[in-house]
Amino acid sequence: MWSQKWVLGNWKMNGRHARNQALLAEWLPQADAEGVRVGVAVPGVYLAATAAAVGPAVWAGAQDVSRFDADGAFTGETSAAMLADVGARFVLVGHSERRQYFGESNAVLADKLRHSLAAGLVPVLCVGETLAERDAGEAEAVVARQLAVLQDWTGAGVAVAYEPVWAIGTGRVADGAQIAAMHAFIYEQILSLCGGGARIRVLYGGSVNAANAADILAIPKVDGALVGGASLQAGPFTAIIQAARTVAGAPS
Ligand code: PGA
Repeated sequence: MWSQKWVLGNWKMNGRHARNQALLAEWLPQADAEGVRVGVAVPGVYLAATAAAVGPAVWAGAQDVSRFDADGAFTGETSAAMLADVGARFVLVGHSERRQYFGESNAVLADKLRHSLAAGLVPVLCVGETLAERDAGEAEAVVARQLAVLQDWTGAGVAVAYEPVWAIGTGRVADGAQIAAMHAFIYEQILSLCGGGARIRVLYGGSVNAANAADILAIPKVDGALVGGASLQAGPFTAIIQAARTVAGAPS
């Protein structure tokens, strides 16, 4: 388990330039929290302005990256090098909404991971089962299949976010035992896929909010949080950062 916690916001397809700048200005003064790495994944069109606003202490990130790396005839795509060029430090890869709406497969995600790492970005590989899969007793098998995309790497520089699909945007949070069990499973899988020296950070995501963040972040092998809805308002996001600071500073 890492002592530093990560709190990464995911704005999804929300925001407008002026509103984004106002939101950032509200929580930025609180973001320099000891023991906490704060970041925010924003729509690509707002990435450069976000990176400029947050400065070096906070990570601006992207929510997706092209599976192609060379410049050229890929209309509509944005490469990892372009994201890095405008100040991105990390990128979400394989968020469940992208898997659902854009059919992203492991083959596509492997390309995205490779190009992100090559461009110096930290890819945050998102994994998680649907409710039907959990009810069928397949949660671990599904997550293991999604993690298999890591098999070509030592794991250096990659983070994973466990986001049960049924907990995303639903207000329904996985309980502490479910989170602890899946994070332990993910750690084991990473060790067997990437080798004993692998140190991959594993974040939890899915209806994390100001009220539950401290409890979730204190669960063993929860190295941080990926926060959707609650990152759209300064009050809840700041409270989650503060919860992470308290947990990171607490003796383990
Ligand atoms: P949520 O989203 O916090 O709104 O559940 C999390 C995510 O999808 O990253």
